[in-house]
Amino acid sequence: MELTRPVFFVGFMGAGKTSVARRLARTCGVASVDMDTYIERREGKKVKEIFAEGGEEGFRAIETDVLRELGAKPDPLLISCGGGVVVTPANHDVFREAGFVVYLEVTADEAASRISDTSTRPLFQNLEAARARCEERLPLYEAVANVRVSTAGKSVPAIAREVQRIL
Ligand code: S3P
Repeated sequence: MELTRPVFFVGFMGAGKTSVARRLARTCGVASVDMDTYIERREGKKVKEIFAEGGEEGFRAIETDVLRELGAKPDPLLISCGGGVVVTPANHDVFREAGFVVYLEVTADEAASRISDTSTRPLFQNLEAARARCEERLPLYEAVANVRVSTAGKSVPAIAREVQRIL
């Protein structure tokens, strides 16, 4: 796999974006960056605190800033994005211009079964709301995706191998 530009992983919370990007990074010798972790380091606060202080709007502004910063990096990078990155229209331009987007598909129910700790995810507090949010975002994930990979019933290494074959 010879990457010449960033690859972005998008999909709903619990899709496995961070785990798959990390796994691929290890097997392919390319660096991976988790956007939420990057944001937390940059801001010196947890995502949960950023939401508590500035609301979703405050978080989205930081997220767009960071996406632009990472998208402008010349090195090949595997970037796992937060699940809500697609709700900001300006981010779609970054995806189009900066790299290749892999959409990891998951249903809200499957995501809920994978997420053991919802305390770090302010927007995954109850299943009904998560289902609605997931449904609402489907066309947005599809709009930015260069490829989509179903994650249903697959392990992280299996998903990573599938992505590697595509890249
Ligand atoms: C969010 C997803 C989270 C995080 C924030 C908002 C969302 O990332 O960015 O809590 O709106 O779906 P993960 O998808 O990595 O959980």
